Amino acid sequence: MESGEIKLDGLVFEPFLDQQTISKRIQILAEELNQYYHQQHIQLVVMLQGAQNFYEDLFPLLTFSFSTHFIKIKTYQGLHSVQPIEIPETALKSWNSELPTLIVEDIIDTGRTLWSFMEYLKQKNGRDIHIVSLLVKPEAMQLPVKCRFRGFDIGTEFVVGFGMDYNDSGRDLDSIFRLKSHNIP
Ligand code: IMP
Ligand code: MG
Repeated sequence: MESGEIKLDGLVFEPFLDQQTISKRIQILAEELNQYYHQQHIQLVVMLQGAQNFYEDLFPLLTFSFSTHFIKIKTYQGLHSVQPIEIPETALKSWNSELPTLIVEDIIDTGRTLWSFMEYLKQKNGRDIHIVSLLVKPEAMQLPVKCRFRGFDIGTEFVVGFGMDYNDSGRDLDSIFRLKSHNIP
């Protein structure tokens, strides 16, 4: 293994985005959001568990007023996005369809999770809904999910760290690593 590389559950990952790069980008995203939501009251919906780290770094930088809701929708097994996407009936009990909503996501891959979730919110009469995602994989996207606020557009590589996991490993890493392409099973 080369220096800086790590092994998780038998797979080798290499450094991709370091802490400083991530934190600088989050500051810029926060400025964009502060301009967009200036003097509004909105609700953030944080997609657990992946988006936890992103949310924790982002929210102290936000200058507009907001409430936070957390939701957990598991859609990934190992390296692959799975169907169907189930949204727990009890989710978002205190979510208010009258207020603007900003969904906070770690990464958009096929787009299935957020596409289904947006449909769910629209059925509940949600409007003025936007997404902020730290990472987006435009080439992997299979459904038209509009992500207005985005940290980094990346390729189709599988990544871990900063909240994102591979079979529950790697979440606690402070920076982001990507799977070395030659060892995709
Ligand atoms: P999608 O439904 O395919 O867009 O996948 C969305 C969810 O799968 C994301 O919110 C992540 O939690 C997870 N996911 C997608 N790509 C990756 C990855 O490269 N590493 C870790 N988790 C991922
Ligand atoms: Mg996620």
